[in-house]
Amino acid sequence: MDKNLKLPSHIAIIMDGNGRWAKKRNMPRAFGHKQGAKSVRAITTACAELGVKYLTLYAFSTENWKRPEQEVGFLMKLLSDYLDKETKTLIKNNVRLMTIGEIDMMDPHLCKKLKDVKKLTSKNTGLKLVLALNYGSKREITRAVRSIAADVKNKKIRVSDINEELISKRLYTAGIPDPDLLIRTSGEIRVSNFLLWQIAYSEIYVTDVLWPDFGKNNLMLALEEYSSRERRYGGIKAK
Ligand code: IPE
Ligand code: IPE
Ligand code: MG
Repeated sequence: MDKNLKLPSHIAIIMDGNGRWAKKRNMPRAFGHKQGAKSVRAITTACAELGVKYLTLYAFSTENWKRPEQEVGFLMKLLSDYLDKETKTLIKNNVRLMTIGEIDMMDPHLCKKLKDVKKLTSKNTGLKLVLALNYGSKREITRAVRSIAADVKNKKIRVSDINEELISKRLYTAGIPDPDLLIRTSGEIRVSNFLLWQIAYSEIYVTDVLWPDFGKNNLMLALEEYSSRERRYGGIKAK
């Protein structure tokens, strides 16, 4: 890798386009999801090797429950298989698994498996792989508002204690720095209820490449583009 490349510490990805990838091949959508899981492996490994600190992957949204039961079931099974097969590799690569979203509302077996793998990898010091599961940013913010309001009511905090830092601490992402780079595959130019608070100043990169086709070479192109961007945060160009 080019030494002058500025590496983001946190990359967040909206993994999109599995269904279209399968449709192009006259295959069922499930085939696209299966292939998409291979991209998850490739990109996780690449990020671990590059020294990226956080990789957040949008895997299942609060809106994705609207899909046919069969597709939802397939996605859950895929996640379960991923955990069975991949835990060894995560440990070997010093990757720590984390989740954001309401996993307690998912299948109890799957939820337990997720918690076990999170615990097993909790001491790993390399890449933090954050899976967004049953995640919705509006729900996340609503929960935060409720918990803060309850604390005010119980006199644990005062209204004047509410600031951006406190709000950040009440989100699922508490303790995780905001993403530097947000990637969305498959050409859709929208955020689909993902990390609305946290992407306030993220650099956004949208590619037409469908998620099952997204490999390390595509990641490197996104990183080159990120590296060439000037982040001003509302200020003016640095001299
Ligand atoms: C992304 O691919 C995977 C999930 C949302 C779980 P899609 O399934 O949304 O694929 P398209 O957008 O229909 O092509
Ligand atoms: C966003 O993709 C959710 C995930 C990648 C998990 P969708 O395919 O669900 O989003 P929309 O419906 O195109 O906005
Ligand atoms: Mg989609």
